[in-house]
Amino acid sequence: MTPDVRPLVAGNWKMNGTRQSLGEIKAMAEGIDGPLAEHVDALICPPATLLYVATALCTDSQLMVGAQDCHHEVQGAHTGDISAEMIADCFGTHVILGHSERRTDHRETDQMVQSKVEAAHAAGLTAIICIGETGDERDSYETLDVLMRQMSHSIPDGAMADNTVIAYEPLWAIGTGLTPTPVDVAVVHAFIRAELVQRFGAEGKVMRILYGGSVKPSNALSLMSVDNVDGALIGGASLKASDFLAIYSVYEGLVA
Ligand code: 13P
Repeated sequence: MTPDVRPLVAGNWKMNGTRQSLGEIKAMAEGIDGPLAEHVDALICPPATLLYVATALCTDSQLMVGAQDCHHEVQGAHTGDISAEMIADCFGTHVILGHSERRTDHRETDQMVQSKVEAAHAAGLTAIICIGETGDERDSYETLDVLMRQMSHSIPDGAMADNTVIAYEPLWAIGTGLTPTPVDVAVVHAFIRAELVQRFGAEGKVMRILYGGSVKPSNALSLMSVDNVDGALIGGASLKASDFLAIYSVYEGLVA
């Protein structure tokens, strides 16, 4: 955790979920609404097809709803894409950008991610910018260089703590059941924090840094307890309300 930073527990449903899954979102919305919501934020990012109906389900809940990508332009001839304005129009509050699956499947570069982040900010959304190294990069001790490069080129100047979240997601930990040790996470998150402070000053001190990659109820407490880990970006374990709420609840032991 980071002093004076409100943690964020975020779920990324990726390309999973149909109308049948909306019951899980409803259960999450109901489960989030307790005393812990005064201290910890919660967000779910379903596929775009469910965005509007999901936000409608959450109007009376503290559970926020976001999207998984956006185009950098406001509108136009871009078949299949959605803009940040469209997400805001559906009452989405956040958008995940630069996820490694988008960087890999759609060849998104740091520069493309940066222009999407700018579009998200212009639409009043909070951007969750994903960074992370591959297994090969980790094995050749390039992790910090890779993260440095991704941060310098994906995060726009003028990013603020209230519209930007960084998510460290080592690619080798995504969907594999593997996680870095808490000590490794501490080293990486301290590095990210130092870079954010160097570039953004006071804003960088309180910009949230999430950890993502095989977060589950069984490892969430040890990962969320690490210095400079200000929440989680959860894939598989966010599909079921029971797992998502179990991860959220580890903060009962961490926040006052
Ligand atoms: P898993 O939690 O399934 O490893 O996915 C992590 C992730 O990519 C979240 O964005």
